[in-house]
Amino acid sequence: MLPEIHRIQAEGFKYENQGRIVKYSNIFRNIFYVIISQDKVVGYCIYYLKPVFSFRGFEKQSVISEIAVDGNFRGRGFAERLLKESIEEMKLNGISSILLYVDINNQPAIRLYEKFGFREIKKVKNVCGQKEICYEMELGLI
Ligand SMILES: CC(C)(COP(=O)(O)OP(=O)(O)OC[C@H]1O[C@@H](n2cnc3c(N)ncnc32)[C@H](O)[C@@H]1OP(=O)(O)O)[C@@H](O)C(=O)NCCC(=O)NCCS
Repeated sequence: MLPEIHRIQAEGFKYENQGRIVKYSNIFRNIFYVIISQDKVVGYCIYYLKPVFSFRGFEKQSVISEIAVDGNFRGRGFAERLLKESIEEMKLNGISSILLYVDINNQPAIRLYEKFGFREIKKVKNVCGQKEICYEMELGLI
């Protein structure tokens, strides 16, 4: 499925490159979910786990590093289904919260995350791309 993921990534992100997925997957032990429609990969979600310490003790947080849908299949609810299923899996795996970063101008993605209850925590620079400003957003699962 990697060639399909690379194709969707190249189309969806101006600053991405193919080496990044493989490189970061190896470093962070990324988990991939893909959504398939009629035998075709139409979207993917990639996340990794990060231990965090809270007043409850050590917890597992997931960081969604990428979510994207094939340009020809956008606006049909695929990202929503992908994110819903991903969140269900994360809950089953005892993940306490989800963190992600989104460009402040990426309204489709911001609307999508807000629909799931993600909250803007702060603005950060150089995470979504060089000199780009993005929101850090979080969704608590417990
Ligand atoms: C963001 C993205 C994943 C959305 O995928 P999608 O399959 O088109 O989204 P869905 O059809 O499931 O839409 C779900 C919700 O997202 C929001 N949304 C999606 N596209 C939108 C748009 N063009 N404008 C405003 N809101 C939008 C809406 O809240 C929508 O719910 P609604 O239909 O009830 O209004 C897709 O646009 C994409 O791949 N973009 C390029 C990659 C990217 O920017 N990823 C996010 C990086 S953080």
